[in-house]
Amino acid sequence: MDSLALSCLILLSLPLLPFLSAANIPLGSTLSSTSNNSSWISPSRDFAFGFRQLNNNSDLFLLAIWFNKMPERTIIWHANEDNHPVLAPRGSTLELTATGLLLKDPGGQAIWDEKPNKIVSDAAMLDTGNFVLIASGNHSDYAWQSFKSPTDTILPTQILDLGSVLVSRLTETNLSKGRFELHFSNGSLQLIPVAWPTPSQYKSYYTSNTCSANSSESGHQLVFNKSADIYIENNNGQIVQLPQRYQLSPFSSNIGL
Ligand SMILES: *[C@@H]1O[C@H](CO)[C@@H](O)[C@H](O)[C@H]1NC(C)=O
Ligand SMILES: *[C@@H]1O[C@H](CO)[C@@H](O)[C@H](O)[C@H]1NC(C)=O
Ligand SMILES: *[C@@H]1O[C@H](CO)[C@@H](O)[C@H](O)[C@H]1NC(C)=O
Ligand SMILES: *[C@@H]1O[C@H](CO)[C@@H](O)[C@H](O)[C@H]1NC(C)=O
Ligand SMILES: *[C@@H]1O[C@H](CO)[C@@H](O)[C@H](O)[C@H]1NC(C)=O
Ligand SMILES: *[C@@H]1O[C@H](CO)[C@@H](O)[C@H](O)[C@H]1NC(C)=O
Ligand SMILES: *[C@@H]1O[C@H](CO)[C@@H](O)[C@H](O)[C@H]1NC(C)=O
Ligand SMILES: *[C@@H]1O[C@H](CO)[C@@H](O)[C@H](O)[C@H]1NC(C)=O
Repeated sequence: MDSLALSCLILLSLPLLPFLSAANIPLGSTLSSTSNNSSWISPSRDFAFGFRQLNNNSDLFLLAIWFNKMPERTIIWHANEDNHPVLAPRGSTLELTATGLLLKDPGGQAIWDEKPNKIVSDAAMLDTGNFVLIASGNHSDYAWQSFKSPTDTILPTQILDLGSVLVSRLTETNLSKGRFELHFSNGSLQLIPVAWPTPSQYKSYYTSNTCSANSSESGHQLVFNKSADIYIENNNGQIVQLPQRYQLSPFSSNIGL
């Protein structure tokens, strides 16, 4: 399981396509967890958002985003509560409405929702892997986006704000909260092992030390840029590179730290 240490940071050699080439999903659209094929696909077909059967013959489904062209169809985001995947019984439905996303079980009971504080006009699965709810009245404003609610993976062009947390999955196939956490808070990036199954955190095994009493010198954003460099940008715009061993080489995925 050590190889899963921060399977958080996955890197891909995907051709990065223009941002907004998206076929938008209108309000009232639904997906149903009756087969693996219920999904909304990005224009390049690289990414899909929808239901995934938990495992063969399972009557439980995940609501997820995955690499649609890779045979493994690796999941990069999943709907969760407190880092535990939301399991939707067969026949559940997801609806896109002006108030956001609503997932209901076959009895009509709500089991998960995403209610942004802005009215939604439509949604899109972008070619970057970001699933976005577009704010009404301003098409460049996202009422919600999966890139700002990461689970265990970040992708090129994704930017994490202070307060972001990534939690590794327990095993390759079990998406429950696992043994490693990435925290970007208080100006610094920290990688922390957890005393699983308790939530107790051990001492961090990496800290970027970018928290400064002078706030202009403190970390502001964690950037995974288009050419797949990961760095911290301070409030004053200065870039702090992560050490080489926390950088990922192209053409590999699932790098353990
Ligand atoms: C999914 O769709 C593809 C193409 O339409 C089809 O070949 C495949 O059998 C479908 N799989 C399931 C599980 O429905
Ligand atoms: C649905 O997809 C999952 C994950 O790729 C796979 O394990 C399962 O066999 C698929 N189910 C069907 C009916 O194709
Ligand atoms: C799940 O089903 C798929 C397609 O039906 C098959 O290729 C795969 O080997 C099965 N996986 C397991 C673990 O049984
Ligand atoms: C639309 O949203 C973008 C992104 O949040 C913002 O930069 C821009 O100022 C907004 N435009 C208007 C007219 O509010
Ligand atoms: C994943 O692991 C957790 C914790 O051990 C367990 O409770 C859960 O049943 C597992 N889920 C699956 C799908 O195996
Ligand atoms: C944030 O960093 C400052 C300066 O290092 C430290 O005094 C403070 O305790 C930290 N706060 C948290 C919540 O970690
Ligand atoms: C904080 O850092 C900036 C440079 O990033 C410097 O210009 C400024 O003088 C510093 N402020 C204090 C109070 O040290
Ligand atoms: C990504 O960051 C690296 C290192 O800071 C920089 O050399 C490169 O130009 C950046 N790429 C893009 C597309 O901004």
